[in-house]
Amino acid sequence: MDLQSHAPTTENVTWLKERVRGIHERNRQRGTASWCGHSYDFTCPSHKTYPFQWFWDSCFHAIALSHIDIKKAEAELFSLLKNQHDDGFISHVTFWQRDVYEEMVSTYDIAFRTKYLSDEMQPPLLAEAVHAVAHRGRGIEFIKEILPGVIRFYEWCHSVRSPFGDGLIRVIQPDETGLDHSPKWDELMKIHDEEHISFERGWKLICDQYLPFNRDPKKMIDTNYFVVADVMVNVIYIENLRVLSRLCASLGDTEGEKRYADRAALARKSLEDLCWDDLDGLYYDVNGKENKKIRVNTFTSLMPLLLSDIDQAKSDRLMAHVLNPEEYWATYPIPSTAMNHPTFRPNTVGGNLVWRGPTWMNSNWYLARGLIRHGRMDLARHIANQSIECMKTSGVREYYNPNDATGWGAPDFSWSTILLDLVMEVSS
Ligand code: GLC
Repeated sequence: MDLQSHAPTTENVTWLKERVRGIHERNRQRGTASWCGHSYDFTCPSHKTYPFQWFWDSCFHAIALSHIDIKKAEAELFSLLKNQHDDGFISHVTFWQRDVYEEMVSTYDIAFRTKYLSDEMQPPLLAEAVHAVAHRGRGIEFIKEILPGVIRFYEWCHSVRSPFGDGLIRVIQPDETGLDHSPKWDELMKIHDEEHISFERGWKLICDQYLPFNRDPKKMIDTNYFVVADVMVNVIYIENLRVLSRLCASLGDTEGEKRYADRAALARKSLEDLCWDDLDGLYYDVNGKENKKIRVNTFTSLMPLLLSDIDQAKSDRLMAHVLNPEEYWATYPIPSTAMNHPTFRPNTVGGNLVWRGPTWMNSNWYLARGLIRHGRMDLARHIANQSIECMKTSGVREYYNPNDATGWGAPDFSWSTILLDLVMEVSS
């Protein structure tokens, strides 16, 4: 495949904007929830399978919406923060309209804090979303209104989920990474096949351990079974602490500016010390107090490309993995699992096990922007152009076969609209 390194065509940009607009119309949820007394106004991930508000989905939605409808973008984030808990935690799912979908909820594997709010986190890209919405919208005024809640959330990440003094945050169950069935977790979940039922068993194996002490955060971490410093989650955390530091600076809060820059620096250093693997030239997640490496080659091993300050020798090695046609350089890059890993499957498998091969738009958004930061606009444009091709071939789907762009998962999947942000960036 020749490199499609031209800026996306005007026709394609217009085509994409129309799709994005349509999806945020069709998937919009508005109303008032009697269980909390708040009104809501957000885009759900998919009408068919995910009618509720998910944390990282909403952040992607807000960034996409910042290009087409700033009011909706703001409403998305305000809705996300409405049920923030007293300790600063924000549930990864807010089941605003749960009572209408009780049957659907019974099919999910999710840990609950209350009937309507989950007890799980998701990758913390809230600061990036706030920045995008402020930047294209009301600027400082919006930042002033929303920042207190945002800060409380990052304080929760720090005080509850960074237990080992290395500045990295830990997830305590696989779905907290947003990468539910990634083959990275197979060993810890004792998964040996591709059946959905095995995943459910694995999820319970981890989460049932937490029930006797009522999911007390400290005790969950003390089990030291699934206490993972995930590379993607932490790259996102580091990037967002840096953005948060700048948001504080924009309000003249010099203490906040320093606090979050320092936290980013510590986590950044630990990522190098604990996760870099010089043998393979990849970053790997580490588990438990012992920081045991999980040596499975998935796209998250490439995520530190997002950080502009990784040293050249390391970014060159990551880049070589990206461009290796046996690993990540598919016709429609970037597959979620390396193509030469034994678990790689280009299509959906086992009753919808996800993140085991297909290409997703949110990971492309992160990785392509990382490539730009390392001087490879040509590759980022190629990824953007091929991603548009995926959508033109199969519609706006949840994920795509990296060989032939067949679409899988939910149709009209909202976070795939994050592609618009990448397309705008590579067009300028
Ligand atoms: C799936 C994804 C998760 C996402 C959710 C809603 O569970 O793995 O990352 O947030 O769907 O789209």
